Amino acid sequence: MKSTLEIIAVVAIVMSMVSCQKDSKPNYQYMPNMYEPVGYEPYGDYPVFPGGQEAMLPAEGSVPRGWMPYDYKNSNVGYQLAKDSLKNPVQYTAENLEKGKALYGIYCAICHGDKGNGKGHLVKREKILGVPSYDDIGRAITQGSIYHVMYYGINSMGSYAAQTSIEERWQIVQYVQKLKADLEGKPFTVKEEAVLTPPAVEEHVDAEAHEDATHQETTNNNAH
Ligand code: HEC
Repeated sequence: MKSTLEIIAVVAIVMSMVSCQKDSKPNYQYMPNMYEPVGYEPYGDYPVFPGGQEAMLPAEGSVPRGWMPYDYKNSNVGYQLAKDSLKNPVQYTAENLEKGKALYGIYCAICHGDKGNGKGHLVKREKILGVPSYDDIGRAITQGSIYHVMYYGINSMGSYAAQTSIEERWQIVQYVQKLKADLEGKPFTVKEEAVLTPPAVEEHVDAEAHEDATHQETTNNNAH
């Protein structure tokens, strides 16, 4: 008899707890700091922000870390300028060439062919026309022009600026230059190992790393 009463009591307590639940609101939270973050929620709605919204546009003129503006215009003049003066800031090493080869296989070979002679699968199947060979004398491509057409695209060839990083594009440039040299029967050599002067693309990052290192040194000295 006593146990029946106990059961009834327990059921009543449980029911009274459950019956207050509202699906539209979170239920009782045990240790709520596990659920409620201290920081602002992304896209949350808070009056302290302009427009009351946590998500804001980046400050005008800000760029992602490591991103460099490309100053050559998407025009004939820009193309010619890049062709004549733009130089590869990434070192010519066996490693970079190997990476360029892999990326070339992913993005370019389907049209330009594994050898760069303009006879990729899509050309053989007549899906696309007018793919040139890299040793085309009339085009006389250079490192700058290869980079430029990858950045903006050219006629029926699309841009690769969204799929590839700056460094990756320059690695592809190295491999295209190698294919061109092979087609022309000319030698193409790269260094086996990178030389320790930092490449221009990473100058910014390296400068900062150096600053940190110097800072560290001074702190250490003070401690002694
Ligand atoms: C969808 C097929 C296609 C793909 C993929 C493709 N290209 Fe092209 N590419 C073309 C065509 C077509 C042309 C000729 C465009 C023209 O001048 O009319 C061309 C031209 C070029 C030229 C010569 C441009 C000049 O200065 O005259 C280079 C260099 C080149 N492509 C490099 C690349 C590289 C590097 C990739 C990979 C990142 C690539 N292409 C991917 C179709 C393609």
